[in-house]
Amino acid sequence: MMKTMRSHSRATVSLFVIGVLFPVDAMAQSISVAPPVAELPGMGRAIEIDATRARRQALTERTGQGIIAIPAATSRDLESEVLQDNDFRQDDYFFYLTGLESPDAWLVMAVHPSGTVELHLFLPERNPQMEQWTGRKLGPGPDAIRLTGIPNVHPLDSLDRALFALQRTVPGPLFTPLYAGTAENERIDRWLQAGVGVDVRSVVPVLDSMRLVKDDAEMVRQRRAIDITVEAQRAAMQAIEPGMFEYQIEAIIEYTFRSMGADRVGFPSIIGSGPNSTTLHYDTNRRQTQPGDLVVMDIGAEYGQYSADVTRTVPVEGRFTDRQKAIYRLVLGAQQAAIDATRPGITIGELTRIARAYLERNSGDLCGASTCNRYFIHGLSHWLGMRVHDVGDYSTPLAAGMVLTIEPGIYIEAEQLGIRIEDDILVTDNGAEILSAGAPRSVEEIEALMAGRLVP
Ligand code: GLY
Ligand code: MN
Repeated sequence: MMKTMRSHSRATVSLFVIGVLFPVDAMAQSISVAPPVAELPGMGRAIEIDATRARRQALTERTGQGIIAIPAATSRDLESEVLQDNDFRQDDYFFYLTGLESPDAWLVMAVHPSGTVELHLFLPERNPQMEQWTGRKLGPGPDAIRLTGIPNVHPLDSLDRALFALQRTVPGPLFTPLYAGTAENERIDRWLQAGVGVDVRSVVPVLDSMRLVKDDAEMVRQRRAIDITVEAQRAAMQAIEPGMFEYQIEAIIEYTFRSMGADRVGFPSIIGSGPNSTTLHYDTNRRQTQPGDLVVMDIGAEYGQYSADVTRTVPVEGRFTDRQKAIYRLVLGAQQAAIDATRPGITIGELTRIARAYLERNSGDLCGASTCNRYFIHGLSHWLGMRVHDVGDYSTPLAAGMVLTIEPGIYIEAEQLGIRIEDDILVTDNGAEILSAGAPRSVEEIEALMAGRLVP
């Protein structure tokens, strides 16, 4: 414990210096959308009641008659788990349907034969002794009804009884996400043995397909996660110089995340310099940078349950060599070709073929006898949302409201040369919006920002 505290205070000192360079208030002002504010302490952010209601309605229309039961994530225990900096994070499906950050809760929806939908939220009773240790919780009562917009809120210990009662009036399947080997599954098994639901069906495919298209409330959170990540990219570019350790760059980035209100990282920050630039998911971040290095920064803040994922590759000395510049521009061209083709109806597979064809056509002799396409060793895109590699069928044609990354890369291990450029893209009615456009992307913009010349 002492060791942790000492290293913590050292980090605070160096981060304070960064705080002076990049005043927190100024950064916060650059974000246009105000974050929802919690109404009660310890309850998480305010819930978008209309949006969560619309998602629940869309779900019950898709499932039809039956009972839907969605568990929250369970609370954690400092004594028995290695928690480190992993604070409580809500289950994505429960969050999607309730907006609620409370642990150990259940949402139950009963779709009656008449089509009427009954909504019930089950929350653990408050425990004043425990709250002294782990903070105030939302218990069953009028506050919970008002904050969630769910009209029936009950103590958690009435959940089994309520399910048994519902089973008598609501025939049909039991729809639930299944988490093998968990206490939630044991509970579901008990319900089945007691005759709740004629069968169990996973609600995951329906929810995953719904999560592919973001609604307005989701996009507020998604955009903010990306805006924060863009600021972190800019802060890192302005601070980088040869001799810095990768973890110092990581510290600037994650300082920016937290100082702008991000809840956590969406995934471990990847700061790969020199030889590490060619390791796709390198996140040890302990090497000291050397003159001539490229640094791949693949980072994403999580805000309000939504993650960003933005990669920039920069020369540690602030200027690309001619070879680095040539390969960087090739990757950028491939990315732009895919972005230009992004519109409703196209698939990720087709975008990938477009990016690869660009590399095939434009490599010249940059990669010897073959083309640089052979050094593009990963997928072009993934869905983005509550998960950095978000849920959803990857063969789904794009539609307005979907968010994906476009991230070609070239990795030539023998030259310690890895370049990845990744942006977060919203599919619009007739094309695409680059949500992460605020992070300098061209050679000229990156070199200008690193040289201290202002880039708008
Ligand atoms: N940002 C890491 C990845 O997309 O795999
Ligand atoms: Mn990615």
